[in-house]
Amino acid sequence: MLSQKTIEIVKSTVPVLEQHGKTITTTFYKNMFAAHPELLDIFNHANQSKGRQQTALANTVLAAAKYIDNLEAIVPAVVQIGHKHRSLGIQPEQYPIVGQHLLGAIKEVLGDAATPEILEAWGEAYGVIADAFIGVEQQMYDAAEQANGGWRTFKEFIIDEKVKESDVITSFYLKPADGKNLPDYKPGQYITIRFRIPGEEHILNRQYSLSQAPDGERFRLSIKREDENAPGGKVSVYLHKEMNVGDKIEVSAPAGDFHLDTDSSSPVTLISGGVGLTPMMAMYDYIAKNTPERQVAFLHSARTRKHQAFDEVLRKMNSELPNSAYEVLYSEEGDGFITKDFLKKHVIDGSDVYVCGPTPFMQAVVSNLYDLGISQDKIHFEFFGPAEELELVKP
Ligand SMILES: Cc1cc2nc3c(=O)[nH]c(=O)nc-3n(C[C@H](O)[C@H](O)[C@H](O)COP(=O)(O)OP(=O)(O)OC[C@H]3O[C@@H](n4cnc5c(N)ncnc54)[C@H](O)[C@@H]3O)c2cc1C
Ligand code: HEM
Repeated sequence: MLSQKTIEIVKSTVPVLEQHGKTITTTFYKNMFAAHPELLDIFNHANQSKGRQQTALANTVLAAAKYIDNLEAIVPAVVQIGHKHRSLGIQPEQYPIVGQHLLGAIKEVLGDAATPEILEAWGEAYGVIADAFIGVEQQMYDAAEQANGGWRTFKEFIIDEKVKESDVITSFYLKPADGKNLPDYKPGQYITIRFRIPGEEHILNRQYSLSQAPDGERFRLSIKREDENAPGGKVSVYLHKEMNVGDKIEVSAPAGDFHLDTDSSSPVTLISGGVGLTPMMAMYDYIAKNTPERQVAFLHSARTRKHQAFDEVLRKMNSELPNSAYEVLYSEEGDGFITKDFLKKHVIDGSDVYVCGPTPFMQAVVSNLYDLGISQDKIHFEFFGPAEELELVKP
């Protein structure tokens, strides 16, 4: 239990942290990686260099400080981050390392303003926050391991099939090297893959959504080649160019809290932009195979026909499902983007709405959904990177 005094000190330092939050976490990473270079095998370097992970950690530290006497309020955030941590194999003994360097960075950046009293209070508070994460994550590890066909951290898989789905998206079918069956997962969940690219200093980890309903035998990932801007995407380009049937890769157990509620029979609207259609594919596939009567609308936006994956499959599934609609807009072929009017016409009344795509896409779509009066608890979204705050126009 934290004392009232500790709670007060922690809460009163929030404004200072808000001012220096980003600098503190940048310093924190620099010092932590200098002392523990092995952690560079876990963190995503592209996210680091774009500052995305810094913002994510800073935001979370601040949120935790604001709610230090009511950590219940941040449980959903802890669960979402916990899934990401679990998919990366983060271990309890790594928390003190983060704590030590976070405190060190607060001290370095605040200078004399960081009194021993403040640092002590933060040390205690960090311990409480870390315990909350560790507890949630241990339950997740246990559940992953105990699932039928499950495992705890990473396991070796073999690429079983590689299928080109569009000019930019290719599917990889993966099967466990030990020949065992795969666990069930919730449609919408992702896995982390990790491997070493020859010539690269560090192991690279990336998350990919499972793009079909569970079949007990293979995972399917559908991956966009990120090579439009220099420097190109390391993992996606390497997978497209160099990884082939028979190659091995390490894979985490399925994770993530963005998934179809498979116990419910309420209508569902799936809205995706670009490669953001992958979790939707799993949800749609699940409905087609298990609850074909469920009402569903799949609304997709792609740049061009050549960019779009799965169009033929989706048209076929849609024609075979009794209560389904499928709409696609090609933004660079004269259809424009998904607008408020389009959503008004096609989002099913009272449905749970799932959104995934590039950040500006989600920004626009989710804001429009709010404008249309759809409540926050009906809207679910996933970022293909560290979670970001959407700058939303809320009603
Ligand atoms: C939950 C989740 C699910 C996902 N599902 C999918 C999916 O189903 N399919 C899919 O294709 N992707 C998915 N992603 C995204 C995926 O994890 C990778 O982020 C993506 O494949 C890019 O990885 P990369 O190694 O190719 O690119 P990275 O090397 O990580 O680079 C990412 C981008 O940043 C740019 N970049 C790199 N370095 C810099 C720099 N120094 N400055 C500026 N820009 C830079 C690159 O050009 C590239 O566009 C998902 C992500 C998450 C978190
Ligand atoms: C209480 C302490 C911690 C907090 C508040 C925290 C917070 C976060 C947040 C907010 C994210 C982004 C989640 C997302 O993707 O949406 C994240 C990701 C991550 N965290 Fe933590 N974390 C903590 C401890 C740790 C520890 C101990 C490690 C291991 C050394 C770790 C490693 C990672 C990694 C590798 C990622 C993914 C980053 C990326 O790939 O860009 N975290 N964490």
